[in-house]
Amino acid sequence: MSTVLAPEPLSRTGVSKIETKPVTLTINGEKKEINIAPWTSLLDALREYCNLTGTKKGCDHGQCGACTVLVEGKRVNSCLTLAVMHDDHAITTIEGIADAETLHPLQQAFIDHDAFQCGYCTPGQICSAVGLISEGRAKTTADIQELMSGNICRCGAYPHIVDAISDVMGIDNQNQKSAAALSPEPAKSI
Ligand code: FES
Ligand code: FES
Repeated sequence: MSTVLAPEPLSRTGVSKIETKPVTLTINGEKKEINIAPWTSLLDALREYCNLTGTKKGCDHGQCGACTVLVEGKRVNSCLTLAVMHDDHAITTIEGIADAETLHPLQQAFIDHDAFQCGYCTPGQICSAVGLISEGRAKTTADIQELMSGNICRCGAYPHIVDAISDVMGIDNQNQKSAAALSPEPAKSI
């Protein structure tokens, strides 16, 4: 289904007119036609023009990962890319992660492992984790920690986030924690 969304007024000041460009974004399987200034980020297009506010704006500078979405299955910081560059790309936001009424396994695991507090970073964490799993590079919890390091959580829910992702990936996080606890501390130099 195609939805035509109302364009933003060309000018707020009435002094100069912003030249907008029609863009068709395919988001969560639905086409949305919007008229936007060419410099509009994908993040702003999603939130301000498509009313998809699940994707969060944290830093707006590519540093926190709150705005992570999937483009053609790959995770990207939507604040760092322009919407006009994704005219023919499949975009998945947190609103499109679940299968109808059934939560995505990562969404369920985040609930089961109490992997969020305020929840602000959670949409980006989950989208990023979906991308991480499809990349196929993470084999251990240490890999998960490294490959999720672009997603900041101000509440510090990291241990439970890693538990949730490990659970979905079938990585035995508990054994790895136990092994780490049993390994001797490195000798301190004096
Ligand atoms: S809002 Fe995009 S990385 Fe922080
Ligand atoms: S749960 Fe609050 S910022 Fe991560």
